[in-house]
Amino acid sequence: MRGEWFSQARFGMFIHWGVYSIPARGEWVRYVERIPASEYERLAWKFNPRRYDPEEWVGLAQEAGMKYMVLTTRHHDGYSLFDSQVSDFTAAKTAARRDLVEEYVEACRGKGMRIGFYYSLLDWRYRAYFDGPQKDPEGWAKFREYVHAQVRELCTNYGKIDVLWYDGAWPWTPEDWKSAELNAMVRRFQPDILINNRSGLPEDFGTPEQKIEPSSDVNRWWETCMTMNDNWGYSAADRNWKSVQQLVMNLAQCARDGGNYLLNVGPKPNGTIPLPSVRRLREIGRWMRLNGESIYGSERCQQFSSMVGLTTAKSTTAYHHVFRWPGKEATISGVGNKVLSAQLLATRKKVSVEQEEDRVFFKDLPRKAPDPIDSVIKMELDGKPEVAPSFRHIP
Ligand code: GLC
Repeated sequence: MRGEWFSQARFGMFIHWGVYSIPARGEWVRYVERIPASEYERLAWKFNPRRYDPEEWVGLAQEAGMKYMVLTTRHHDGYSLFDSQVSDFTAAKTAARRDLVEEYVEACRGKGMRIGFYYSLLDWRYRAYFDGPQKDPEGWAKFREYVHAQVRELCTNYGKIDVLWYDGAWPWTPEDWKSAELNAMVRRFQPDILINNRSGLPEDFGTPEQKIEPSSDVNRWWETCMTMNDNWGYSAADRNWKSVQQLVMNLAQCARDGGNYLLNVGPKPNGTIPLPSVRRLREIGRWMRLNGESIYGSERCQQFSSMVGLTTAKSTTAYHHVFRWPGKEATISGVGNKVLSAQLLATRKKVSVEQEEDRVFFKDLPRKAPDPIDSVIKMELDGKPEVAPSFRHIP
C-alpha cells in the first residue's frame, strides 16, 4: 500500500526554522508584533547559519528513533529556505546565499531518512492574502499562482519527497486555493507522496496539533504534532520543557491509538538545535533502542485497564507501558484474552503471570522500576487484544 512506511514509522521530527529564529520569540513574531515588511526583511540579511549541518540533524533524529523529518520550507512569514524563481525573500538570494532545503534533502537521502516538506499556503507579505478572493479576485489569483508555483518547485527540484505538510489555509476554502488542482499536480510529480489535511482537503492523514486525538475513522491515518516546550520556532526564553517521560508517554499514547508523533525542534539562527531538545532526544533514543518494538508498527487496539500505564499492541502481542512502577506486583484488568507468557521487553527477562478471569497479575517484579521512564512488559496473548466490559458491578 502507498505510504505504508508512515504507519510503521510512528515517530518523526518536525523542524521550525527560519529568520524568526533571530528575534527568538517564536515564528509568529512578525504578525503578533505587527512588524512592517521592510523591518522584517532585514532579518534575512542577517540570517547566515554558519553551523547549519543537516547531517547532524538527521543523525540526532535517527538516534532518537525517528523515521521521518518535516522541515518548514516556508512558514507564514514568507521567507523561503529554498531557492525560488517566484520570490526574492529566500535563503538563496539573501545572506545565507544557499539553498538550505537542498542540503537538508541531501542529508536525509544520504542517511535513508524519509523527507517531509512543511509549506504554508498563506504568506503575510501579500495584501491579497488578507483581502481574499472576493474582495480582490485579481490580486488573489496572482497570489495563488505564486503559491502553486512554489509547491511545484518543491515537487520538481529535489527528487523524491515523502511527505507534503501544508499549513495556513485559513480563513479561505480549498476552492479558493484550488487545492484539488494543486494536489493533483503534486501527485503527478510525486506519485508516492503523502499529503496532510491542511490544504483543506482530507488527503492522506489528519494533523491534530498539541493534542492526541485519534481519527474517528479507525482506518484513517493521523499524526499528532507537538512542541517540546511552548513554541515551534526558537524561543530563547521559553523554558517550559516537557519531561522525557511525558514525551515517551505521548509517543506511546499515539502508538496505542494508531497514530504518529511528530515532535518539534526549533533550531537557533546558527543552525544548531537547542541543548534541552538535544538532551531529550538522546534520552528518548536510549529508551527507544531497548523498547522501540512496542512502538513501531503498532496497531490501534482496545485498552486493558491499568492504574499505572497504557498498552500498545501488534497482532497477538501486547506491550504494557508502566510509567508509575507499583513495586513487586503489577495488575491489569479487563483482559479478555488468555495471557500465555510475559517478559520485560528491555532485558527479555521472564515475568511470572497469574490470571483470574479478566484480571492479570505480574509477579516477582523488581522493587524498583527497571526503567525510570517507562518499563515495558511484553505479553503474548491467545489472540488480538480483547477487552472485557468495565461498566458492571463487581460483587
Ligand atoms: C499552526 C501555526 C504554526 C505551526 C503549526 C504547526 O498552524 O500557525 O505556526 O507551524 O501550527 O502545526
